[in-house]
Amino acid sequence: MTNFSTIYKLSLVAVTFFIQACSCSCPVLECWFVQEKAGRGGGLTGATTQEKSLLYIRKERESSGESLKAPSDINPDRVYSLTDASASLCQQALNPPRGSVKKPQCEINPFLPHPSTLKWVASLTESALSPIYLQAEWFSASFQGLDDQLGISTITRAPTGTKEHNVILSVTSKTMSVKSRLGVPVTLDCSFWADPSSPLSTSGFAVEWRYQFRGNGRLILAYDGKADRLADTQEEGATMDFEGLHERGNASLTLQEAKVHHTGMYICTVYLPYMLAQVVMELEIVEPPSLSIHPSPLPLAVPGQTLTIQCEASGFAPLSLELSWEFKGADGKSRSLGTGSMSGHRQAWDGTYSQSARLELDTSRLDLGRGGEVTCVAVHPGGTRRASVNLNIIGFSGPSIEDSMAMVGVALVLYGLIKFVSLIFTGSGSDEAGKQDKKDK
Ligand SMILES: *[C@@H]1O[C@H](CO)[C@@H](O)[C@H](O)[C@H]1NC(C)=O
Repeated sequence: MTNFSTIYKLSLVAVTFFIQACSCSCPVLECWFVQEKAGRGGGLTGATTQEKSLLYIRKERESSGESLKAPSDINPDRVYSLTDASASLCQQALNPPRGSVKKPQCEINPFLPHPSTLKWVASLTESALSPIYLQAEWFSASFQGLDDQLGISTITRAPTGTKEHNVILSVTSKTMSVKSRLGVPVTLDCSFWADPSSPLSTSGFAVEWRYQFRGNGRLILAYDGKADRLADTQEEGATMDFEGLHERGNASLTLQEAKVHHTGMYICTVYLPYMLAQVVMELEIVEPPSLSIHPSPLPLAVPGQTLTIQCEASGFAPLSLELSWEFKGADGKSRSLGTGSMSGHRQAWDGTYSQSARLELDTSRLDLGRGGEVTCVAVHPGGTRRASVNLNIIGFSGPSIEDSMAMVGVALVLYGLIKFVSLIFTGSGSDEAGKQDKKDK
């Protein structure tokens, strides 16, 4: 009994330790260090250099001075320690199990703090702050988690001459790629954290949401958190929870009713004085089609007749649809009737598409038998939809009992008719013959 409880306690301790070890461990991340090529042109040429670098992430500031180990393929000058007091960078999605092939993505760029002239940001730098604080080494870094849903951007600062960076601002999204049906509310996640020990964190923030799609962009929301003022925008039905924004840094955007034209990229930018960090997420509105078949019900068909059946798919987005036809006979087996001929697409006022497929069905085809179920199948990124009608072919000469009986009946009637007609004819014929005989005599 004591043994058991000891083992139990030990395993409990082990489990607790394991859980803690998991949730506490911050990753060592391999990153690309990307910067504009120094020298002639001063970066105007747009040429960049890429170097491998290594980030030792930690949660607590510790100047242990421990040397950071560098693998042979990484320049020791590009090995940094990065303290993130919010522990955002210590999430599981950025910390793959040892030896896993898939790795989080990470890129670092040198960053130059500068005041912004945007209307909703300018108030943050009204009073010249602590320029001495800005004299340091600044990086902007972006991270993408293994699950493709976590994205983090940070601005970090290291006192000049050291390689010990601290996260000053981080912006996180847990919805880097969102799919939504039409007409429902959609929330795009975005939150930020500013280092409370930084002199910049006390002088306010600003948040901006922008939309971008195929080269077109527009401002959706812009909020000056210092003046508590929202900039004028044309966007309808887009909101933020301002209380949550001030209390918890929750800058999530809610679109009250998803529409087709909401498909695109959304950029959440958070500003502190002299700096900004942003995450870009993707929203796609995916709505499967509604199907209808014309004519429905189908008219009775006789063998040899060709039926034209139309399948109309409407109200779908995006424009990516495959329509095909299937037939299920009395034997319960389904077989393909092909795709039929596809029409061009039309776009409705709400941005959804419609498209149809026409099937010319030759009812003398032997595999149709006496009929069955004709189904239109629509395959769409939002799901597969089906619609069916019953097909009845009458008078088909297959080996069914009713048909055989009917045919026997018809044969009997025909036989009787022929017999009757021939009786009449043979009767009158013998009369004529008789007359002829009499004449001859
Ligand atoms: C942030 O706000 C949105 C609504 O704007 C809400 O749906 C979401 O749950 C909030 N997130 C957190 C972590 O509080």
